Amino acid sequence: MPQSQSLPKYLQEDDISQECRDLLSSLPCEQGWVVTSLYLYQGFWVPPKQLKGILTCQRHFQARDTDVLLVTIPKSGTTWLKAILFALLNRAKYSGSGSQPQHPLLSQNPHDLVPFLDFEPYLEQDAPDLASLPPPRLFATHLPYHSLPQSVRDSKCKLVYLSRNPKDTFVSLWHFANNLTPKDEGEISLQESLNKFCRGVNGYGPYWDHVLGYHKASSETPEKVLFLKYEDMKENPCAQLRRLAGFLGCPFSEEELKEGTVDEILRLCSFDSLSGLEVNKSGKTALGHENKSYFRRGEVGDWVNCLSVDMAQRIDRAMEEKLRGSGLRL
Ligand code: A3P
Repeated sequence: MPQSQSLPKYLQEDDISQECRDLLSSLPCEQGWVVTSLYLYQGFWVPPKQLKGILTCQRHFQARDTDVLLVTIPKSGTTWLKAILFALLNRAKYSGSGSQPQHPLLSQNPHDLVPFLDFEPYLEQDAPDLASLPPPRLFATHLPYHSLPQSVRDSKCKLVYLSRNPKDTFVSLWHFANNLTPKDEGEISLQESLNKFCRGVNGYGPYWDHVLGYHKASSETPEKVLFLKYEDMKENPCAQLRRLAGFLGCPFSEEELKEGTVDEILRLCSFDSLSGLEVNKSGKTALGHENKSYFRRGEVGDWVNCLSVDMAQRIDRAMEEKLRGSGLRL
């Protein structure tokens, strides 16, 4: 299969196991826009090489009641929430100054502190020893709700879902895809990418099925699934962070509130702070993406700089139709 060697290894199409090849040959396939092809597995689109990680995770991952799982569709603010969750859950270890160790977020990219469950640990190994990790274990995933490992749904582990406006998500993804494409291959067609996105063809899409699955789960089991919006996080980060801490059973104490711990976490994890760190300006994540590719503008409504009125209306119409009756507005 033709493909760009500049892609991170997990997005390339070589070296796929026989089991995955057999399964892939039975799945619907489309030309992707970030990678060369996408396959429809359990109702969502995945690059072929990720199938192994997904299958192994679905078969082997044993969730614990104390686990925390961040769920997003790509480009909805995963990096930001990984940083916030890491800082929140580890705040006792690193807050304040003096003898405390230096905060890991100052020297590591958030993706290297919070692994993606469905491809990082399981891509190279069949059943890694995640059992020895101390609680609370923090992972991220892009898997849709219906495809989570059974143990995640059966246990009392907590799921934090972050959604983002579809037009901003689409534009962010298009820029990210362009970054992955060698300059001499030219820009990826915005119009063709939009056509695919509006048909639901993007990694882990359809977008609407992803958000609706978690929105429904959050309405039915609010103690298990917290549904957050990127836009709310931007508008009122203090309130959202306190809501998140309460949901995870680690609310801020009066003393922490007085000491400014909430602001401290938000400052550390802000776009300007993270994107300005040396570690995030150079180097690559364990998955092979450039650290800096996760920080572009970090704004709400940036789609106006990229989409024509007609293009924006196409996404709006597609969402209106798919989200109708759900009570969800994005
Ligand atoms: P833009 O491309 O619109 O700038 P993900 O982490 O899911 O890959 O999403 C990447 C998007 O989140 C990018 O959006 C990126 O700039 C934005 N982002 C990264 N860090 C952020 C932060 N600390 N605060 C707000 N947005 C952030």
